[in-house]
Amino acid sequence: MAPKITVIGTGYLGATHAAAMAELGFEVLGLDVVPEKVEMLARAEVPMYEPGLEDLLRKHVAGLEGSSGRLRFTTSWEEVGEFGDVHFICVNTPQKHGEYACDMSYVDAAVASLAPRLNRPALVVGKSTVPVGSAARLARKLAELAPAGEEVELAWNPEFLREGFAVQDTLHPDRIVVGVEGERAEKVLREVYATPIGEGSPFVVTDYPTAELVKTAANSFLATKISFINAMAEVCEAADGDVAKLAEAIGHDERIGKKFLRAGIGFGGGCLPKDIRAFMARAGELGADQALTFLREVDSINMRRRGHMVELAREAVGGGFLGRRVAVLGATFKPDSDDVRDSPALNVAGQIHLQGGQVTVYDPKGMENARRVFPTLGYAASAPEACRGAHVVLHLTEWAEFRELDPAALREVVASPQILDGRNALHAGAWRAAGWTFRAMGRPRA
Ligand code: UDX
Repeated sequence: MAPKITVIGTGYLGATHAAAMAELGFEVLGLDVVPEKVEMLARAEVPMYEPGLEDLLRKHVAGLEGSSGRLRFTTSWEEVGEFGDVHFICVNTPQKHGEYACDMSYVDAAVASLAPRLNRPALVVGKSTVPVGSAARLARKLAELAPAGEEVELAWNPEFLREGFAVQDTLHPDRIVVGVEGERAEKVLREVYATPIGEGSPFVVTDYPTAELVKTAANSFLATKISFINAMAEVCEAADGDVAKLAEAIGHDERIGKKFLRAGIGFGGGCLPKDIRAFMARAGELGADQALTFLREVDSINMRRRGHMVELAREAVGGGFLGRRVAVLGATFKPDSDDVRDSPALNVAGQIHLQGGQVTVYDPKGMENARRVFPTLGYAASAPEACRGAHVVLHLTEWAEFRELDPAALREVVASPQILDGRNALHAGAWRAAGWTFRAMGRPRA
């Protein structure tokens, strides 16, 4: 009989994983400790913007008209213990306040609550991004606390989904990585993934530490690629070169590849920045800090991009922000997301505001979150409204909507037709032809 699945933690990762498992035919029970979240999910409502997720939930959440009924949500640990054969842990591991290390308290609390309810054979599968060594520690904790003792096993199965593509990435992953200690755990996970999810996806079986490291290594590599091209942008600016052409040209070499070489104001979000910092902190604890000193540089190149955008804006408005209006297009850390966590766009907007600029922000999906995080900024209901009276326009998140803007029409509403493209995504020629001073990152001025 197919194993019954529980998913603990129903944020980005968990809600998507639960819906995907139901889509594949499993009976699924999702748990969250926040009752409001559980109530929303039971109505197939998602507390974040994630294309396709609500539709998938509506298709499976029990009690909704026409649904398969395979997916339910609860706040009860007893129910989870009784129901599940395979328990996926999907809680988040944020950066600790004021430190580089990651905060494991949600993972630890989940295992502490789950373990005493495991009275029969079960597999606990960690999906959260954790410091290497966590799985071995959690396996010992399970053995200590679970009434079923050795019949409870642990596996580590990192998740590589991107926000905005969560459903697609979960249903069609590039690879499935499982860290196991026993053969039974591998067998159960092969069964769970012997569904369309596993078709065509390489299945990599390894030990706990390697599985944990695969995730942090992959994110560190991606962050390094972005900071590499941003470092090239700095050099291009100094030498009057064009970083976009440079990226295109080096990307033709398949060993380098074209992806993740878009220069701009750098990376943000809930994963890359905190993952590279937590990785450095963990390497330090292990006495391997020298191996990762380059990540410090990756981080500082990235943070420098934000400061550089502020400087370019200051220069554009005549050397100081006092009495100057600055339009900011984009608040989220990337398009097709409403997430503003560690968003370079919002950070730039905030810095300019704190330096006396009159900032007006518009974002297609991130307004509510941006307002909550930064209530003192100005907000507008559309891009043209944000640009009204602006002395400079900053394009900071590359939403498709901004590429559709009409430069000629926008020119009529601004005080000064100057635009800085922080994402190298706008059509420079069209803006210049409409009379704008157009400047992009790491590209020639005209
Ligand atoms: C990332 C990883 O891609 C994913 O595999 C992992 O599971 C979680 O972290 P995500 O945070 O959703 O996913 O965003 P991603 O699409 O990777 O973008 C991260 C940041 O890098 C964004 O701020 C984006 O604007 C920036 N970026 C990306 C660049 O500045 N240049 C690029 O070429 C690509």
